[in-house]
Amino acid sequence: MTNNLKPLKIAGVGYSLPKAVLTNDDLTKLYETSDEWIYTRTGIKERRVVSGTEDATDLGFEAAQRAIAKSGIDPEEIDLIVVASSAPPDLYPAVACHIHQRLGIKKFVPAFDITAACSGLIYGMSIARAYISSGIYKTVLVVATDNNSRLLDWTDRSTSVLFGDGAGAMVLTESDDGVDDIISIDIKADGNYGHLISLPFGGQNCPLVEPHEVKPQKIQMNGRGVYTFVAKILPHYVEELLANAGMVSDDIDYLIPHQANIRIIQAVQERLGMPDEKVISNIEKYGNTSAASIPIALAESVEHGKVKLGSTAILCGFGAGMTWGGAIVKLREGIC
Ligand code: ACO
Repeated sequence: MTNNLKPLKIAGVGYSLPKAVLTNDDLTKLYETSDEWIYTRTGIKERRVVSGTEDATDLGFEAAQRAIAKSGIDPEEIDLIVVASSAPPDLYPAVACHIHQRLGIKKFVPAFDITAACSGLIYGMSIARAYISSGIYKTVLVVATDNNSRLLDWTDRSTSVLFGDGAGAMVLTESDDGVDDIISIDIKADGNYGHLISLPFGGQNCPLVEPHEVKPQKIQMNGRGVYTFVAKILPHYVEELLANAGMVSDDIDYLIPHQANIRIIQAVQERLGMPDEKVISNIEKYGNTSAASIPIALAESVEHGKVKLGSTAILCGFGAGMTWGGAIVKLREGIC
């Protein structure tokens, strides 16, 4: 980063979860599985799912309101809304446009969605950083929200046990004290592994042309393949992110990783040599909430006193694409 780039402040973080709880025991009513199988392989005990008319837009809006309240900004100050969603209620209007409307923002601001699966929050932060540090915008709202439960194949026990619904949001603004809260951020993708997790659209050709095979519109995942890919890449990647920032794991107070599988979290923890109390995990209660999992883990652990503000954390995630990313951040007092 050169000196004429503007420093950025993480001003507020919020989250929202649906109320309905599905336990592992509940899932035994759908297919042959057990709490023991799911918990020992994933660390998951239960997950939250949307119900009735509730969807990822509602969750995202609520998380955004909370992040805005914590940041102390007026929604009219927002210059850009980016929503990371890979399991949205509709492809368009973008969830970001719905959130613009629900926040009652009168200004015409750009609002768009990005698809980076579970890396979405880090991708969104990276976009916010580029706009703020270049001076194009002062205030960016990043929302990460997914209603995975509506797009899962509920007959597929190897995939549907893993996911839950939820939303997180972050307000990023130009820093007013010269301190840059993003010490380092990086995002990556390798499209060669796209086949490992996919969510095809059904769709059809015009009846005047040759019909094409309609694919089921459900999340499909090669769990073993994802696990192998991530276990190989992520621990080393996070270690490198630290080294590139000129830091060591002792400089980091908390590891706040994407909550996909407790064994993957432990692999990163082991590589960094971090003790349990520095590693944040809530996968037991919420499963994999995709892009929302990092901001939920961050804000909830502050609420519960597990993460003290005024600290430094490393955030890291991976997801369909395959995509991955990480950020080393300062967590100011009062952000959540
Ligand atoms: N209950 C009981 N048995 C099951 C279940 C279940 N819910 N699911 C699968 N099994 C069975 C399989 O049928 C298989 O039986 P078989 O040997 O008789 O054929 C056996 O268990 C082993 O199946 P695997 O899929 O090989 O199990 P594995 O040990 O790999 O664990 C898991 C599966 C938990 C999905 C693991 O691979 C994993 O966590 N992978 C990572 C997935 C992940 O992180 N995805 C999120 C990506 S982020 C994003 O962007 C969406």
